[in-house]
Amino acid sequence: MKLISGNSNKALAEAISSYLDIPLTQASIKRFSDNEVFVEIMENVRGEDCFFIQSTSYPANDHLMELLISIDALRRGSARRITAVIPYFGYARQDRKTGGRTPISAKLVANLITAAGADRVLTMELHAGQIQGFFDIPVDNLISGPVFTPHIEETFNGEKICIVSPDVGGVVRARSLAKRIGADLAIIDKRREKAGVSEVMHVIGEVEGKVCLLVDDIVDSGGTLCNAAGALKENGAKEVHAYVVHGVLSGEACNKIQASPMEKLVITDSIVATEEVAACEKVVQLSVASLIGEAARRISEERSISALFK
Ligand code: R5P
Repeated sequence: MKLISGNSNKALAEAISSYLDIPLTQASIKRFSDNEVFVEIMENVRGEDCFFIQSTSYPANDHLMELLISIDALRRGSARRITAVIPYFGYARQDRKTGGRTPISAKLVANLITAAGADRVLTMELHAGQIQGFFDIPVDNLISGPVFTPHIEETFNGEKICIVSPDVGGVVRARSLAKRIGADLAIIDKRREKAGVSEVMHVIGEVEGKVCLLVDDIVDSGGTLCNAAGALKENGAKEVHAYVVHGVLSGEACNKIQASPMEKLVITDSIVATEEVAACEKVVQLSVASLIGEAARRISEERSISALFK
């Protein structure tokens, strides 16, 4: 088993390497002066089971090209099997045509990863589970339950908890967590008038007097969560916290979250935290290194991954 890190999230790759007690394979991923990506794997990978770790987070296009070119380098280096480990799969939100003459970019990215030579994909909390079907190679889509559940149980022991999906699209994810911890479920009927601006319409479910935990796959501008937190408070929630897997947190997101009625935003390290995110008092980061490391080990040993979630 060989672990190779791209440039997008070296801290997570190092944490996975120390969980598995397998050193990262030496690789050089550089830019030519015109910004073209050049990759050189510095150790022999012939016949090896290779895991290339790269989130396609900001700058998404550069990190995607690094991923594709590194997969090509491993394939040409005669790796026996290449698993693209993509803790955060960028472009996932573009998973359907939203209007005439618009792309399905998530499908295009899936095609690119497959064409580059990946044999399988290991990722986390895809925006929609169906994106697995965009690939004709096996995809393991890890759920965040094993990371968030112990934190929720420790933090809110004895409280009446309600898990809240901030939009209809996230109900499956929220329901799964609610079931896991035996909590109530509520849903926010969110309508988005235009890209990047969200508007809360209705809270469906009983939230009065409860500790509400918003659960989502991505927090980007923070609009969805902050509006949802406001609506929950208006409907009598005792406290509002959020558990979101991928902290994209672009633009003014941190300031918005800091000023919102949300007490805490718990994210994971699927995306490396910027200085601003690390400094944001309301943001707590949990690591997915052991979950991803354990899944990688099980792939390598041909053992069950679903057993991790029971
Ligand atoms: C959308 O369906 C996603 O699940 C997230 O709710 C959305 O991407 C969050 O974006 P923002 O933080 O910009 O509102």
